[in-house]
Amino acid sequence: MSAEFDAVAADYDLHFTETNIGKAQRALVWNYLKKHLPSKKLRILEVNCGTGADAQWLHALGHEVIATDLSAEMISVAKLKRSPEISFEVAGFHDLKEKFQDQTFDLIFSNFAGLNCVSNQQLTAIQKDFSALLKPNGKFIGLFLGEYCWQERLYFRIKNQPEKVNRRLSESAANLDDRSTQLTNCFSPEALKELFTDFNFIRQQPIGLLVPPSYFEAQLKRWPRLVRLLQSLESAVAIPKWANHADHFLMEFEVKKNCN
Ligand SMILES: C[S@@+](CC[C@H](N)C(=O)[O-])C[C@H]1O[C@@H](n2cnc3c(N)ncnc32)[C@H](O)[C@@H]1O
Repeated sequence: MSAEFDAVAADYDLHFTETNIGKAQRALVWNYLKKHLPSKKLRILEVNCGTGADAQWLHALGHEVIATDLSAEMISVAKLKRSPEISFEVAGFHDLKEKFQDQTFDLIFSNFAGLNCVSNQQLTAIQKDFSALLKPNGKFIGLFLGEYCWQERLYFRIKNQPEKVNRRLSESAANLDDRSTQLTNCFSPEALKELFTDFNFIRQQPIGLLVPPSYFEAQLKRWPRLVRLLQSLESAVAIPKWANHADHFLMEFEVKKNCN
């Protein structure tokens, strides 16, 4: 399987992780994790970890983190930038069950739409593999692209590009840079609840309801305080039923196998 993100790995942090918008959206995810993860030390498998910003944060909180990504270039950047105690490994979603067959985890974590790079059929198989890798009562927390991101739809209407207004509603090729594209497939929260058959749904939350998509960074670069204000306001209005109208949304599930 090819790793389209190889081409953008070297600049990924510059173009996303270290931007005002990237930081604000990630802070919203971290706030959620701070609020809902148990305080005990967890064994975490991070999938589609990219350059390892979340792995570093989770490690700093005292958790044991094994972080994986299909892109060998992303993993190289992560190994260079992050703590040597974090285990970074090249692995696609489909490799995980075999690679970690003798291990179990308290949490599988997927940030910022890595799972939007697979089809419905593939995701059905992947969630089954996730369930096999989790301890009884283990959790999956994942971020997905919102199908009806209101800021994006308004932006394309104002720019008079009606053909792009509904672009998240069908499988499409997202531009990663001038040379490479990534097939992107969106799911609604309801579709995910049906698709994750080995899990019970716990919670959903919009991420990027007021904080805009990252391609607004050029316009907002000089307004870091405004982005932080949007982040604070968003914490107050993060109403679960608006999840699919945000740039991303977070889904939390618990595996159906339990200790009893
Ligand atoms: C938008 S980036 C998110 C990276 C990181 N989670 C973050 O928070 O910045 C999506 C990531 O998904 C990874 N990815 C795409 N398809 C994948 C697959 N089949 N298996 C594992 N990772 C995949 C890409 O290589 C890329 O690093």
